[in-house]
Amino acid sequence: MKFETAEGQNPIDRLKVVGRAHDRIDGPLKTSGLAPYAYEHHEGIENPAYGYIVGAGVAKGRITRIDTAAAKAAPGVIAIVTAADAGKLGKGKNNTAKLLAGPEVEHYHQAVALVVAETFEQARAAAGLVRVDYARANGRYDLTEQLKVAPLVGGSGGPNSGSSPVERVGKFEEAFAAAPVKLDAQYHTPDHSHAMMEPHASIAVWNGDELTLWTSNQMIAWSKRDVALTLNMPEDKVRLISPYIGGGFGGKLFVRADAVMAALGARAAKRPVKVALQRPLIANNTTHRPATQQRIRIGAMKDGTITAIAHESGSGDLPDGGPETAVQQTKLLYAGPNRMTAMRLAVLDLPEGNAMRAPGEAPGMMALEIAMDEMAEKLGMDPVAFRIKNDTQVDPEKPQRRFSQRQLVRCLTDGAQRFGWDRRQAKPAQVRDGQWLIGMGVASAFRNHLNMTSGARVRLSPDGIVTVETDMTDIGTGTYTILAQTAGEMLGVPAEAVVVKLGDSSFPVSAGSGGQWGAANSTAGVYAACVKLREQVAQRLGFNSADAVFDAGRVTSGNRAAALRDAAAQGELVADEKIEFGKLGDEWQLSTFGAHFVEVGVNAYTGVTRVRRMLAVCAAGRILNPKAARSQVIGAMTMGVGSALMEELAVDKRFGFFVNHDLASYEVPVHADIPHQEVVFLDEADDKANPMKAKGVGELGICGVGAAVANAIYNATGVRVRDYPLTLDKYL
Ligand code: MOS
Repeated sequence: MKFETAEGQNPIDRLKVVGRAHDRIDGPLKTSGLAPYAYEHHEGIENPAYGYIVGAGVAKGRITRIDTAAAKAAPGVIAIVTAADAGKLGKGKNNTAKLLAGPEVEHYHQAVALVVAETFEQARAAAGLVRVDYARANGRYDLTEQLKVAPLVGGSGGPNSGSSPVERVGKFEEAFAAAPVKLDAQYHTPDHSHAMMEPHASIAVWNGDELTLWTSNQMIAWSKRDVALTLNMPEDKVRLISPYIGGGFGGKLFVRADAVMAALGARAAKRPVKVALQRPLIANNTTHRPATQQRIRIGAMKDGTITAIAHESGSGDLPDGGPETAVQQTKLLYAGPNRMTAMRLAVLDLPEGNAMRAPGEAPGMMALEIAMDEMAEKLGMDPVAFRIKNDTQVDPEKPQRRFSQRQLVRCLTDGAQRFGWDRRQAKPAQVRDGQWLIGMGVASAFRNHLNMTSGARVRLSPDGIVTVETDMTDIGTGTYTILAQTAGEMLGVPAEAVVVKLGDSSFPVSAGSGGQWGAANSTAGVYAACVKLREQVAQRLGFNSADAVFDAGRVTSGNRAAALRDAAAQGELVADEKIEFGKLGDEWQLSTFGAHFVEVGVNAYTGVTRVRRMLAVCAAGRILNPKAARSQVIGAMTMGVGSALMEELAVDKRFGFFVNHDLASYEVPVHADIPHQEVVFLDEADDKANPMKAKGVGELGICGVGAAVANAIYNATGVRVRDYPLTLDKYL
């Protein structure tokens, strides 16, 4: 089904099942430990062996020798796989470095060997006996140094992304020079780790030349392709199964070493093999959010009208990697006739960089929204009023292109009112509560919405059970629930009457979980399949599909009525369909908006920052399940606090690795760090986006949070920090 024009009403608009706060249907399974995560899957897994990965001990160089004799002789060891005996391996489209090193080493903790043994403990002990000798080469590990010689790169992402490395509208330099009020500031965001709870993990089973991988992965179709490319085998011989995922945040968009090494290990051991990445390998073996160095220049008239805005960002990655697209939102968020964005990409020999929750916007907004706060102060304007002054209802680079919906102003004004923004003192360091200096900060939130083709199959069985099958994943986001709600709404049954099966590459290809596109597109795919199933139902019942109403387990048409299950009495009905998108998404700019308000206390003696209150107001189209959406936003707000106050992968610039590769030293917020959080969704339905009239919230929720915290700290203390995370040493 092609979505080409804004639709009128459709059955979803009844909102009897969709749009309701519904508990996660996978919740009881997860909280009781009954949901099998990849490593725990046991049905049909005969006599599994355990693999343990040996990560490279150097960041760059060559393996000169691997001595596995001692490891092979260790108790319980079944097989050892290295590049020397793994056969010819290819590389996945979404992998920058190879997943098994040899003889070249491309980054620290790149897999160099897998030890397979009878037990996990035996595999781990034997892995310590594998002796690897390296000829270490000099690597490039210092972003600041490498950016000095880094080229400009195009492809800043988003709808306005052109081929030119520097994108311009009007004459930025002249307008900036002439502006009566201006800001020119540099911001730094560090490398971040996804630090998801469940590590990357896989069980590989070979049946002849067919490979099945139970794995933890956000994007089944991409990853099935990349497993096939890596192992040089036909795609149709690979099956991925990923029904439950303990967090991904972008770190599981791609196939990683656990999957490929499990497959190679299982081939060598002639048994099913389980591999989980040990925690240190999450930081150095997998992907991370790259550090950025950003320069923002804003020029404005005295009344606060922006006349010139420029955003430049530099980041680094391995050779053939990509930039962190931190300038993206600056192309779309605020008005201003003279504009420039540019990115530089340095070559670094650190582990590969890639997407982490709101790639581009998350670090980009951390810089831009401090810059807006600084500019408001220079203008003597309230930061909320300054943002509102520069709102735009059209794409500032392409004024003929309108936003399908843009309620940024309402998010800001509603939020300001709910938060008690009028109590904020414009002058910093004025409010004290005992030992605590109190401050308030605000930031806009912005994240694009993306349309993605998404397929699903819906079955109606003779006993009236509706089953949805799609390779879509639930990474803790609530996918099971919203797909059940969608099919329930379309077929006139409660969500509880729908069985949802996810994450299996033998099911129709979906949009997958990424870029906050998962919810809107995967439900639209189920909608499309249900439209087709409704036609089949009407036809079986001899009803007119155009006027058939599906409600309360019944189908009515004119003065005739039947139970839904009657349509399947002669045999199961099956509808397989996908949603595809026409040019509507090119005519309209589809984006999501919000406003974050934060109150902090900074201890006047110790410098410790405590977040005291947080509010997010979001405008993101129809909210499919307010409870699940709120959970997404509070999770994202929490992650935003982490990015503001503590998260930072520490780079060892001598040896080229992330030092704090565990959850003891890579700090993320815990419950005690987070206060009551309030989330408000504006009542919207975006009919230009898709038949669900929904967009995404999972990444919107993090965009701007870091800056709102930083701005609150400035308001509390009068010290402006432009270097994340804002640890107390930077403002004491
Ligand atoms: Mo998201 S960073 O595309 O999982």
